[in-house]
Amino acid sequence: MARTHNIVSALDIGSGYIKGMVAQRKREGEKVAVLSIASVLSDGMKRGVVIDADVVSDKINHVLTKLNNEVRPHRIKDVFINIGGAHIISEHGHGAVAISRADQRVSPDDMDRVTEEAKTNILANLTSNQEILDTFPKEFIVDSEAGLKDVVGMKGIKLEVNALAVCAFSPYLNKLVEAVMAAGVERIAEVIPSPLASARALLTPQQKELGTALIDIGAETTGLAVFEDRNLIHLAVLPVGSAHITRDIAIALQADINVAEEIKSKFGSYIFQNKTKKEKISINKEEEFVFDTKKMIKAGRARVTEIFDLINKELKKIGKQKALPAGVILAGGGAKLPGIVNFAKSELELPVRKGVIKNFFGLEENLSYSVLCGLILSGLGEGGGDNSFFSNGFGSKIKKLFRVFIP
Ligand SMILES: Nc1ncnc2c1ncn2[C@@H]1O[C@H](COP(=O)(O)OP(=O)(O)OP(=O)(O)O)[C@@H](O)[C@H]1O
Ligand SMILES: [Mg+2]
Repeated sequence: MARTHNIVSALDIGSGYIKGMVAQRKREGEKVAVLSIASVLSDGMKRGVVIDADVVSDKINHVLTKLNNEVRPHRIKDVFINIGGAHIISEHGHGAVAISRADQRVSPDDMDRVTEEAKTNILANLTSNQEILDTFPKEFIVDSEAGLKDVVGMKGIKLEVNALAVCAFSPYLNKLVEAVMAAGVERIAEVIPSPLASARALLTPQQKELGTALIDIGAETTGLAVFEDRNLIHLAVLPVGSAHITRDIAIALQADINVAEEIKSKFGSYIFQNKTKKEKISINKEEEFVFDTKKMIKAGRARVTEIFDLINKELKKIGKQKALPAGVILAGGGAKLPGIVNFAKSELELPVRKGVIKNFFGLEENLSYSVLCGLILSGLGEGGGDNSFFSNGFGSKIKKLFRVFIP
């Protein structure tokens, strides 16, 4: 996956913000240098999905113009982009084929065939407007020997695979691609589900080996990616995020949305305490907004609890509730809410930490950029640290997008 040039561009098209970055890694092992970074308030998006492609395209265009101005004479041509929204789901599938060579050793061709089998089986369970974005092998089985990762050359009669496919609702994927292409991008190099991009920027191979969950709390969605034995074992996007906390606070306090946002970031830790008193913030030189923290606590706590309840439900589905040895890593702008780490620990009954963005100068703590950094790392062909991403010829989405958009 290493790219011939080492300047990579990425767009994180989110419900709260549309962000873009151009970055470069001069030498292997060095930190990534951010050449330009831009962010605009999002519009035309709802819960991670493009609702109005023209409006989103306009916003992306603003971001691209700013980036292009700063990286001259370089010009952005291809971009790595994310995809979010609750339509992104993961589906298990199984494939089985007879090992075809006369010497009964598994060939790369057998690997391709068994993967196609698994994909066909997964597609059979999808509706006609859903498609597979990418497929991740969890284990290969040669005859009765299970739990294998590298099977080429092994001797046997039957090859099987257990795989996890990440799927999307095609009309939403198409609308996203439409918005990006209309903004003046020449080529979409890759479409990566947001939680996987965040995971790439934040998780270590050791965490993925032991068992860990990445939770990316965005504005209107919360992404979840769970790993074990270095494999992706579950992925989901929940339709609730930090902007819902703000909106609930605004309603409870009858405050303007901008005032509620300021209250959330300034007094957010109150949500997790029981300090009930009158607080005030200055809106401008003349005006002060006085509010009752009790109302704010009630509104905020209910929403954050809802988010972690939904996460627990997802973990329960795969038998991992309270059962992830490497714990939980929080990401996304919503992870900046003061006090959320301790609250997550008690709600999930797991070790919880905020993520630290690896290998980027100056962005380590800024979790709003975890998706963007993950996309850049994908472009540099780095940060996977396992056999789960872009491996074994899995995934046909790149070709598919090219077919549609390149004449
Ligand atoms: N210091 C802070 N304290 C509390 N919340 C914060 C802070 N900074 C940012 N946020 C929240 O983070 C959210 C934006 O996060 P992010 O940029 O990850 O969202 P997004 O990627 O645009 O949305 P999504 O992933 O849901 O499509 C906003 O709702 C904002 O209120
Ligand atoms: Mg996001």
